[in-house]
Order: sequence, then C-alpha cells, then structure tokens
Amino acid sequence: MPTIFAKKSMEALMEESHEHGSHSLERSLGPFALTALGIGAVIGAGIFVLSGLGAQTAGPALMLAFVLSGLGCAFAGLCYAEFAAMIPLAGSAYTYAYATLGELFAWIIGWDLTLEYAMGASTVSSGWSNTFVEFLAIFHLKFPLWLAYDHWTGLKKAYEIVARQELMAAHPDFVSGTKVFSDALSALMSHPSPALTAAAHALLNAPKIGGVEIGFNLPAFLIALVITAVLVIGIKESANFNAGIVVLKVAVVLFVLGLGSHYVNRANWGQDWHTFAPFGVGGIGLAAGLVFFSYIGFDAVSTTAQEAKNPQRDMPIGMILSLAICTLLYIGVAAVLTGMVYWPQVNVEAPIVRAFLDRGLNTAANVVTIGSLAGLTSVMLVMLLGQSRVLYSMAKDGLLPRGFFGDVHPRFRTPWKGTILAGMLAAVVGSVTPIDDIGKMVNIGTLFAFVIVCISVIVLRRKDPNRHRPFRTPFVPAIPILGILFNGYMMYELGRANWIRLIVWLLIGLCVYFGYSRKHSRVQQGLTKSFE
Ligand code: ALA
Repeated sequence: MPTIFAKKSMEALMEESHEHGSHSLERSLGPFALTALGIGAVIGAGIFVLSGLGAQTAGPALMLAFVLSGLGCAFAGLCYAEFAAMIPLAGSAYTYAYATLGELFAWIIGWDLTLEYAMGASTVSSGWSNTFVEFLAIFHLKFPLWLAYDHWTGLKKAYEIVARQELMAAHPDFVSGTKVFSDALSALMSHPSPALTAAAHALLNAPKIGGVEIGFNLPAFLIALVITAVLVIGIKESANFNAGIVVLKVAVVLFVLGLGSHYVNRANWGQDWHTFAPFGVGGIGLAAGLVFFSYIGFDAVSTTAQEAKNPQRDMPIGMILSLAICTLLYIGVAAVLTGMVYWPQVNVEAPIVRAFLDRGLNTAANVVTIGSLAGLTSVMLVMLLGQSRVLYSMAKDGLLPRGFFGDVHPRFRTPWKGTILAGMLAAVVGSVTPIDDIGKMVNIGTLFAFVIVCISVIVLRRKDPNRHRPFRTPFVPAIPILGILFNGYMMYELGRANWIRLIVWLLIGLCVYFGYSRKHSRVQQGLTKSFE
C-alpha cells in the first residue's frame, strides 16, 4: 500500500487534464476572461477599507507596503504560473502539492484552501452587507440592525452607535474615524454604563427567541445564495457576470485616481524618510501583512485551469497580468489617499469614501460606494468558484465523497453539488457568526498555500528537470526562495493567535484525512498511477 506521502504521477495528471465529454468541466475561458477573473477576485474590501488601517500603520509609506505585499504575491504568482501551465487541472495548489510533496501535503493544502476561499467568501459577504447598508443610505433607506448583522456584531454595532453619539456630544472637537477617536470609543465601549447598555439594546430592538435577541445578516446570506446560483448555471455565465462587474470596479478605481489626484497636497507625503515612513521599516512590514488581504484571489485563476481554452498560454497571462494591473492601481490609490488626507487623519472605516466626503464631493463618495459593492460581489464569486473547483479535484482523487463533490451537472457542466454546499457554508457563516477573526485566518491560510507552491517549484525542478514546462518561473531557485521569505515574513507578522488558529484548523483536517480520505484515496487503492 502506498504511504501517506505517495505522489500522483505527472502522467496521470496529464491524462486527467485531457478529459472531455459531458461529465468534464467546460473549456470556455480565454485570456481576457481569465485576467478579469483575477481582477474580479482581487479588488475588493482590501483596497476600499483596509487601506485606511494601512495608512495609520505605515504613514504615506503605505505605497511601499503595497509594493512589498505585491512583490510577495508576484514571486508566488510566478511559481503558480509554472504549475498552472504545466498541470492545467482544477485543484491549483492542492494538485501541485500532490505531484511534488505527496498526498498528505496535498490534503493539508486542499483543506487550507478552504480557509482562503470559503472563509474568504464569508468574510467578504459581511463586508458586502455593510456596504449594501451604506448604499441604501444613499437613498435614505434604513435597514434594521438585527437583520444587517449577526447577533454579536449587531449588539456591538448598537453599543458603538450609542457610544459614538455620547462621545460626539461630550467632545464636539473630535473627528470621527481618527485614531484618537477610535481609542476613546473603545475605552467607552469596554466599560459601558447601565444607561449606555440599555440604550444599545433599545436601538437593536431585535425579536427574541428563548429570551435571546436574534441577529441575522440577511444581505450577506442572500448575496451568497445569488452568487451560488450564478455559479451553478455555468462557467461562461459566471465569467460574463464577473467581466461586467470588473469593468465597473476598475472604472471606479480609475475615477478615484483621476478625481483624487486633483486634491493631492504633496506636503502630506512628508519631506524626508522620517515623515514619509513615520514607523520605519517595521511599520511598512506590518502594513504589508495587513493589506496582503487586498491581493488575495489572483491565485483563484489557477483553479479554473480545466475550464481554460488554452491553459498553457493563458494561465500565466491571467494570473500575472491581473496581479500587475491591481498592484499598479493599489500603489496609485495609496498615493492619492495619503496625498489627499494627512495620514493620522485617514479614516479607518471607509477611508476613500470619507476622503471625498470631507471635500464635499458627495456624489463621488456615492460612486465609490457603488464601486465597492460591485467589487465585493465579484470577489465572492471568484472565491466560491475556486472553492468548488478545489473540492471537485479532491473528490476526483477520492479524498472527499466523489459522488457528491465530483458530480458535474449534465447540462450546466459545473460541479453543482459542491458549489451549492460551499455557497451555503459561506452564506451561513457570513450571516450568523462574527467574522472578524475568520478574516484574519484567511490571510495566514493563503500565505501558507503560497509558501507551499514556492517550495513545490523547487522540488519539481530537482526531481523532474526535463519535463516540458510551457511557462518557466524565471531565476529558480531565487524567485521561489524570495517567495518563501516574503510570504513567510508576512505569516510571521500575523502573530501567535493566527498561527494557533491555523494549526487547529489543520489538525481538524488531519482527523478527516485519517478518518475518511486515506481509506478512500484512489492513489492509496492503486487506482491512479502514483510514484513514491
Ligand atoms: N482581495 C480581496 C479583497 O480585497 C479578497 O476583498
């Protein structure tokens, strides 16, 4: 019997990539659609929201934080491109690990990708819901708090609103969204007075079940279901839906750059290194770890390799081009944001919208809100797409129930059952759980996958140097080693609590592997060619 480190042979993988017929996925994506999928997954909450915290952490050197984070992604992206062109299968990092490091590592990465994709989609669904509530506010429509958040977040939000009013009344000179303001708000909320508590519950005004106030994030739940339906209907339909949104959101980012640049005050960028990077290299590193979230998703392009018309040529194009475009846009937005607003005053909740509102540009702020809403929709779409494709690959290898996750719809040619399950999971997690901590796990899980893919490139170059590689990562081993170092450093910066979360998640995964997957693995049963 093969060991838990059995590897799937490249021949078996090549055979799989040539499968066709009504039970295989449909090959319909060209270079434009693939690049759009990459941009679709990337531009979202990261740039529209996290850039504010990034500016507070690095000052105007936020631009360099985006460069640093983008470099880590570029090194990993070049490694993904080599594999995606060579093994054009739906499993992405999971499949690459199966061919190079063996089944156990493949399982770990497949399980880890759930953190990136399904949990990423859940995190973004709650951001989508917040933006949707702001969008309704443009039309003076209000959404009840208990239907806009899970129980815990709804209550926290109610406390925050009441505490904010109290603070503004006591200190009319405070500017909402600044660090001083946020610190004072946290202090007030951590020791709420009985009057504040009563006012918060009255504001929440939630119906109760068994004496407990209900909280259900309805917009997050519904958007996850709508996106799941689009994904089930077809890859072509999903790609077209995504392409439309991508055009809109890139237009909004260009609008931010175009209009915002007229309001830049160069003095806000500082006069020397110390005023440009007030927290030095450490601040830049920390901010890079934070804004890394804004790059997550370009790798999801590789999960559609089995649906690409010409994966050998177009996979590298889709991933590298989308990453390059987004990096340039991000550096531009960071420059405009820190040029428009002196960095200590950058708002951490809606930095770009607030920068425009403070200049009296209300319509521009509304345009940005609509752009964010569009941005978050396509991020969820591509994340859930990636999740169902990884589950599909794992099921085909027998590591997950094949009849369920591997079942391709005869008409739509999509792995519909896995898509519905992943969508439901994202909908439920996004609507009833407080999502903040899960969001942090998404970063560490993704960085871990990046590191493994970089290692895999080096391993396969050594073991199988002569294999035809339609795209070769340049300067191996230097680029993969840089990828390991940059992404490893950002993992380190995420701190102990997130490492513990990652390890607990992987331990749960190992229980599933030894309880189910090992016994059902096709490689273990000798059904798929393997080599030790
Ligand atoms: N990169 C995606 C975002 O920023 C996950 O929303």
